[in-house]
Amino acid sequence: MTTRYRVEYALKTHRRDQLIEWIKGLLAVPFVLHSQPTVTYQATGLQTAAADTYQRYAEIMRDVENLIIDHIQHHERNAPGKSKLKLLVPSVGTFFTKLHIEDAFKYQDNRRFISRRRFVAPSFNDIRLILNSAQLLGLVRSSEVELVTFDGDVTLYDDGACLTADNPVIPRIMRLLQQGRKVGIVTAAGYEDAPKYYGRLQGLLDAVHDSTTLTPSQKQGIIVMGGESNFLFRFDQDSDVRLVYVPRDQWLLEDMQAWAEDDIKELLDLAESALRACAANLDLPAAILRKDRAVGVYPVNGARISREQLEETVLVVQNTIERSIVGSRLPFCAFNGGNDVFVDIGDKSWGVRVCQQYFGGIDPSKTLHIGDQFLSAGANDFKARLASTTAWIASPSETVDLLDELETAVNPS
Ligand code: IMP
Ligand code: MG
Repeated sequence: MTTRYRVEYALKTHRRDQLIEWIKGLLAVPFVLHSQPTVTYQATGLQTAAADTYQRYAEIMRDVENLIIDHIQHHERNAPGKSKLKLLVPSVGTFFTKLHIEDAFKYQDNRRFISRRRFVAPSFNDIRLILNSAQLLGLVRSSEVELVTFDGDVTLYDDGACLTADNPVIPRIMRLLQQGRKVGIVTAAGYEDAPKYYGRLQGLLDAVHDSTTLTPSQKQGIIVMGGESNFLFRFDQDSDVRLVYVPRDQWLLEDMQAWAEDDIKELLDLAESALRACAANLDLPAAILRKDRAVGVYPVNGARISREQLEETVLVVQNTIERSIVGSRLPFCAFNGGNDVFVDIGDKSWGVRVCQQYFGGIDPSKTLHIGDQFLSAGANDFKARLASTTAWIASPSETVDLLDELETAVNPS
């Protein structure tokens, strides 16, 4: 009964983003009052309704924007109690910049015509994209984007695929480097040897290598952080595989040095036994893969594991480790990789922080992490929110659009 309750609770609560759901709820009222389908289809009436709806949506967005400013100030002043936003949305975290939500709404409404819809209310995706735009505006209006970190699967290329030379994200990343910005690929894919990453990222790494416009120091502006926060590689013009491994003693953050090898082994042993128990219990068509800094369960013989089985496995292993003593001593990340489940030592907050430190101490308010996994349970980009601003994309083509939007925000025509 307890387990059932926990799983139900987790599925219901953690599969939703509370901030997005809350904003959706606020917009539902003007949608119902102004946008509902009318019986008579008169063009003039429709325009008035759309204009009313637009105005109401924009006002609500401004109110949310102000609540976020109040939340930031509450945090900065170290004020007692909770901010109003925290009371309304208990799971809300820290914002490193303002979010220009009203302007972002106007920008997205121009593209998606949200306020003109009469049958379909503002959706999760509408609000996710508005928040992304609001974050980009917050970054460029308050300071500078100095570092952009990217998740790999689903963000740069399709799940399990590779970054090939024809990928339209390549010229966008080259543009970032040319502008003197730094780039980190912060992926869960955990390999200790450079050729494996070259295999996954070849199109991009070759483009950097072959570029005659990037300066040598701009080429040094790209790094790869694998296994969430476990293996660091820097670009090397002279290497056949374009990357060289950077030994841990050259980049480990102070807190990471306290991660004991015995604890790492104990945590992975515990994760492995939980994964094995789940695989047996759910009769998964899968095998276990144990690595130096990770353990995972992956399908064999081209099988697919159902979403429910993947989520059950993540929640069981996450709960098992959270309840253990070693789980309180060591950060870890259990996540659903789409057709596999992995438990990694560390998480992307550490991966992003390492990138920030590697490039000389870049502030969270000048860092943007772009990823596809931002649900609070079973998702690995979620933790990056502790270390940087973030954008939540749903496909590689959205990443391309976002980078173009960033360019327009930096250099409005
Ligand atoms: P990401 O989306 O770039 O973070 O990559 C996640 C995917 O990398 C997972 O779904 C796995 O298929 C794969 N992967 C390979 N090795 C590892 C590992 O050591 N830990 C976690 N994921 C891994
Ligand atoms: Mg991903």
